[in-house]
Amino acid sequence: MSSSLRQRMRVSRIALPAAVLMLVGGAVTVQSITPAAAAETTLRAAATKAGLFFGTASSPNRLYPILGQEFSQLTPENDMKPDRIATSSGGLQNTSGADQLVNHAQSNNMVVRGHTLVWHSQAGALQGASQSTLNTFIGNAINRWGSKIAYWDVVNESLEDNNTGRRRNQWPHTMNRDANGDGDFFDAGDTDVIRDSFIRAKQVVQAGGFSTKLCINDYDVEGLTVKGGGPNRKANALYDIVRTYRQYIDCVGFQSHFNDNPNSIITNDLQANIQRFADLGVEVHLSEVDIDDDLSNNDIGAGQAENYRKVVRACLNVAKCTGITVWGISDSESWRSSERGLLFTGSNGSYQKKAAYHAVLDELNKGRGSTPTTPPPTTPPPTTPPPTTPPPTTPPPTTPPPTTPPPTTPPPTTGCTATVSLNSWTGGFVATVRVTAGTAPIRGWNVQLTLPSGATVTSVWNADRTGTSGSVQFSNVNYNGTVNAGQYTEFGFQGTGATSGLTPVCTAS
Ligand code: XIL
Repeated sequence: MSSSLRQRMRVSRIALPAAVLMLVGGAVTVQSITPAAAAETTLRAAATKAGLFFGTASSPNRLYPILGQEFSQLTPENDMKPDRIATSSGGLQNTSGADQLVNHAQSNNMVVRGHTLVWHSQAGALQGASQSTLNTFIGNAINRWGSKIAYWDVVNESLEDNNTGRRRNQWPHTMNRDANGDGDFFDAGDTDVIRDSFIRAKQVVQAGGFSTKLCINDYDVEGLTVKGGGPNRKANALYDIVRTYRQYIDCVGFQSHFNDNPNSIITNDLQANIQRFADLGVEVHLSEVDIDDDLSNNDIGAGQAENYRKVVRACLNVAKCTGITVWGISDSESWRSSERGLLFTGSNGSYQKKAAYHAVLDELNKGRGSTPTTPPPTTPPPTTPPPTTPPPTTPPPTTPPPTTPPPTTPPPTTGCTATVSLNSWTGGFVATVRVTAGTAPIRGWNVQLTLPSGATVTSVWNADRTGTSGSVQFSNVNYNGTVNAGQYTEFGFQGTGATSGLTPVCTAS
């Protein structure tokens, strides 16, 4: 969490150390009383205690007291979108709504997520603009609010629907150029709106000395898998983007509009997916949460509450999941009111808490755990993996032991070594494999490992795979084959069944 966020949250917390003066044998002593850890009674206070923000989206006509009471973060639902504030030359206009929201957030010690700079939708006067015009707008918008905006969604919804794993083909992605036709936009000679927009945003933040962090935001990227267990290619594509442009990207928003769409369901690997992005070093936010109260196997009321619990728990279990934002306050005022996906009913400042509210509050009050919480008796046991990723094993030394005199010309330890760390739960696991180059650089690698019977690979990231059970081979993809001497790269895979003690064999090319 940024220090500015922590600072703002601290202001809002009431921490009165209790002490009583006691007269013992004529001497005055001070005795501390440690009160029992009382449950917090607002989402904001409970989240702050757990070390994350809990926010909502709002508009200038809905600046009700509940905002500052229940929420520690605010996203303008529509008032910072290009169709509100951008001119066709990348200037700013009509910023009064956005200003009002930022001011309201500031006076209530709420963090602001700016939303959003580059988007194919609600693009207004920027529709069809060139990268240079986008860059002008990015500069103007970031500079207007500076560090008052803790996080900016720089690029929103850059990936196609229907789990293709491809970029959208609408503007601004029509400006992308894949010079060698290999399906990505990462090579020398390629043009990439995502890369160029982030580079520009980073320059502006650095030049202004702002603490603003820069996020990429998308939907249907929440799970490692989609309905039926196939890989979530959209999530994998987002992962590749973040990994490739990690130096410009600080945070990732999983919109988390959960509903019955096969690619929008809540999967048991939500936490593992949050974790793999966190392992890249970025913060993860569940940035626009609403949960349809009518998911096929859940009914109105308890089902939705349990789904909220599950989603909040997945975030809490990953330290770098630093914020959750629900997309509005009440069902009737939501963009998807028919799904009744939020935490309150009511309208116009008068709101009633739903079962889902109490579930979220309760889960937040449990704080960040190192193991999944024990479910209440009426709910099924959690199937999420344990949250902690075992520390990567130190690769074996490649230098000779000190007692042996070094040969005049040490033969290079070419090739590579691989180590596996496993995160297992009943019925499944996620493996992170680290490939380390020896004393010479490598240009490609292949890792073979043998899974015990009953274990099957269901999805892979950062590697190509041959086979799903028994002897399985993984080889580099186009961006991670080259590893300098002594350096490493990582790939991962998820599987069903049980596994332990894998012995990877690494071959370099
Ligand atoms: C929605 C708003 O909630 C609506 O009021 C508006 O009419 C359309 O946009 N993904 C996003 C958000 O990134 O900006 C969208 O917000 C919801 C989906």
